[in-house]
Amino acid sequence: MSNATVIYNEHVGGPFFRMALRWKGRGFRPGQFVMVRVSGALDPLLRRPFGIYDVLGGRKGIEILYKVVGRGTGMLSELDPGDRVDVLGPLGNGFPMVRDPGSLVMVAGGIGVAPFFWLAKGMAGKGRRPVLLYGARTKEEVRLVRPFRAVGVRVRVTTEDGSVGSRGLVTDLLDRELVEGRTVYACGPLGMLMAVSEAARRRGVKCLVSLERAMACGIGVCLGCAVKTRPHPQEQKHYSMVCSDGPVFASEEIDWDSF
Ligand SMILES: Cc1cc2nc3c(=O)[nH]c(=O)nc-3n(C[C@H](O)[C@H](O)[C@H](O)COP(=O)(O)OP(=O)(O)OC[C@H]3O[C@@H](n4cnc5c(N)ncnc54)[C@H](O)[C@@H]3O)c2cc1C
Ligand code: FES
Repeated sequence: MSNATVIYNEHVGGPFFRMALRWKGRGFRPGQFVMVRVSGALDPLLRRPFGIYDVLGGRKGIEILYKVVGRGTGMLSELDPGDRVDVLGPLGNGFPMVRDPGSLVMVAGGIGVAPFFWLAKGMAGKGRRPVLLYGARTKEEVRLVRPFRAVGVRVRVTTEDGSVGSRGLVTDLLDRELVEGRTVYACGPLGMLMAVSEAARRRGVKCLVSLERAMACGIGVCLGCAVKTRPHPQEQKHYSMVCSDGPVFASEEIDWDSF
């Protein structure tokens, strides 16, 4: 756990904020996360996980993109430049880099875009463009994909009512992109992850999902973030910790029926 200082805490629109933290963390990989203790009090319940959205130039710190949903994120949104928070990380395994950016299909819903930006930015100008398929519910969510367009990602948006982009679910866009040689990385609501995994399985396309579970320790100790994964040959049941074995899993590893 180390001390970080808020550089800015910008309101992006609706419930979304982007916060930059000056922090001496090292060795980040795209798709990893940090645990942020949002209060000075020794209250472990106020340590919350957030994906690393971007890494600041000169590795001076990181940005997180977050949605206010409850007490911890509400407290985070009230912080000002110069305020201090404790940060633990980087944590988890992250997404492997793909050799050909054009083979990558990122699929996200809502705040699920957060762990993809640094990955996408790192691929900018390195050959074919990756694609981001984004399912949004509100105009504020649609705003979250602007930075992806700015770094050259081919973005396709879908909204359930058709008010922006095409009408329907993000999985409707996915079908056209599921061709041999592609790799799908997905993050978002559980229902979306299940549908994406199933679509990829049917088409024989490799799919990795970034899972979210409520977390207390973030380092594999409290067992609070266990998910049921496919049993190994000698075991009846097998559980994996989202914080230390994940948050990124091959979709076929997950026992989707257990949710
Ligand atoms: C590995 C990982 C990475 C994450 N990355 C981000 C990110 O980049 N940006 C972001 O905004 N959020 C992210 N989250 C979710 C974020 O951690 C929660 O939204 C946050 O902990 C809520 O804290 P709170 O005190 O504001 O809400 P609480 O008061 O604890 O809960 C409010 C509501 O949110 C629900 N909730 C709490 N935690 C989660 C969770 N992990 N997943 C789904 N619902 C939850 C509760 O069930 C409740 O309904 C991530 C979660 C994980 C596990
Ligand atoms: S959060 Fe404690 S084991 Fe994962």
